[in-house]
Amino acid sequence: MSAVSASQVIKVQEETAVEVTKSSDNAVAANVARVLSKVIGLAKTATQMLMTAIYELGTNIISYAGKGIIRLQIVEKNSCRGIRVIAEDGGPGIEDVQQAMVDGFSTQQQFRSLGLGLGGVSRLMDEMSICSQPGRGTRISACKWMN
Ligand SMILES: Nc1ncnc2c1ncn2[C@@H]1O[C@H](COP(=O)(O)OP(=O)(O)O)[C@@H](O)[C@H]1O
Ligand SMILES: [Mg+2]
Repeated sequence: MSAVSASQVIKVQEETAVEVTKSSDNAVAANVARVLSKVIGLAKTATQMLMTAIYELGTNIISYAGKGIIRLQIVEKNSCRGIRVIAEDGGPGIEDVQQAMVDGFSTQQQFRSLGLGLGGVSRLMDEMSICSQPGRGTRISACKWMN
């Protein structure tokens, strides 16, 4: 614990996990996020941005991995609360994460979404990190903080 400063500590206060295999599961996950946002008093616009990001991450899980889990957490850091989304799957992984973040980049043209994609998620959320290993899967974590 010696090298850990208070600003690095994120406490998870609550978590709901939603299994995602079909698009209606994205709606379930987005609605869980709506409820959690209401619990902490997140603004309406921020909640809508969060829900859009969840749809993008869930759509990617379905398109590229077939199935996965979206975890929705109420988190606290430095007395500031927020919602964290963790989208994880055991799918093919992302070969080049930096390239995947570039707007318009897609390995599967037939699955093209509305053009938001991962770049969109990073703009909709306050912070985002991607951990992916080719052949093993992908874990994307993103937070929306209260102001
Ligand atoms: N969960 C995932 N598993 C494997 N590859 C992914 C995943 N999410 C995204 N990718 C890769 O990143 C690329 C960019 O994703 P995205 O920005 O959402 O655009 P799109 O889905 O429209 O292709 C995808 O084409 C795909 O190759
Ligand atoms: Mg996509």
